[in-house]
Amino acid sequence: LDNGVGRTPPMGWNSWNTFFCNINESLIRGMADSIVSTGMRDAGYQYVVVDDCWMNPNRDSGGNLQADPARFPSGMKALGDYIHSRGLKFGIYQAPLDKTCAQYFGNYPGATGSQGHETQDARQFAAWGVDYLKYDWCSPSGTIAEQVATFAKMRDALAATGRPILYSINPNSIHAKTGPQRDWGDVANIWRTTEDIQLVWKTDQVNGYPMGVQNIIDVTVPLAGYAKPGGFNDPDMMEVGRGTLTDTEQRSHFAMWAVMAAPLIAGNDIRSMSAATQTILKNPRLIAVNQDPLGRQGVQVAGDTNQRVLAKRLSNGDVAVALFNQSGSTRTIATTAAAIGKSGASSYTLVDAWTGATTTTAGTISAAVPAHGTAVYRVSGGTTGEPSTPAVFSLVS
Ligand code: DGJ
Repeated sequence: LDNGVGRTPPMGWNSWNTFFCNINESLIRGMADSIVSTGMRDAGYQYVVVDDCWMNPNRDSGGNLQADPARFPSGMKALGDYIHSRGLKFGIYQAPLDKTCAQYFGNYPGATGSQGHETQDARQFAAWGVDYLKYDWCSPSGTIAEQVATFAKMRDALAATGRPILYSINPNSIHAKTGPQRDWGDVANIWRTTEDIQLVWKTDQVNGYPMGVQNIIDVTVPLAGYAKPGGFNDPDMMEVGRGTLTDTEQRSHFAMWAVMAAPLIAGNDIRSMSAATQTILKNPRLIAVNQDPLGRQGVQVAGDTNQRVLAKRLSNGDVAVALFNQSGSTRTIATTAAAIGKSGASSYTLVDAWTGATTTTAGTISAAVPAHGTAVYRVSGGTTGEPSTPAVFSLVS
């Protein structure tokens, strides 16, 4: 979407993965403070996104959205001011139909959606200082045509406010689950590609649900052709730092999100994150790959059921290559400079994104990668063309 924002994938934090509906203004303020004190802000994490359940389920007498008076007694404008005072940006959640998805959770009434109130709500968000809207299709039905028309209404309402607001949509439940996928770049800055991420490496999906990290990678890799500055596939918020996954799996999760040009939205409790989690989330080399202004998503240049090789072309002519081991044992995964689009040099330089170590190669790029692990190298030297992309990875429509 050509609205001036989201030219690289957004980075930030979102309340949902860890806190679900258990949110309030002191929690969000504390998280903003920790995003600053841990160095996450300076690493690039900008948006603090308040997900579902911030609202009073009812609008006021003028039809305006209002914050839940018990959880957010100071109101959303005050919260936005606080977040801005920390040098961060303010994100908020809403749904396009009658109610937010909280309607399905039993213990919380789904708050009023924006249907029929798009202009009024967009103006309200702008007045509160909102910089990012997550807009979540909370219905088990609807056609793609209906979704396009409905999401476009809020796109236009946001544009009409004159405030640059990053527009994040979740087509949810319908084609994100069963296909076909769509290039939503005419509608939004980022769009979810799957059902909600679960805190698990891989699941036996039924009808696209539930999604583990590996399942989401399987769905999102083939959509590489949709990504560009202003429009990116969104494989959901990260589970890094939330336990359960091994350190190797968390590194893979982050590395693959980085190379897939995914939004890097942390979902862990920043206030108590470990040094190991910080090492992953603040990795400067992977963040630079993710935030590269060319806005490419890594394309798969080779792969089978055991491994994937992704190549992400970068603006300075370098190429990032990910060697992803999806098998259950250590594998030596190899590709070549030619396969990732590099040519014309007798020697290429490789910088290991995890260690920072530099090596050279005449052409072979290879690593012994542990089960569920990912090696990432930034490759420089020679000239750069498009990586080879097997036809099977062309776009679906
Ligand atoms: C479904 C979304 O996919 C989640 O990320 C979260 O926003 C919930 N809805 C909130 O109801």
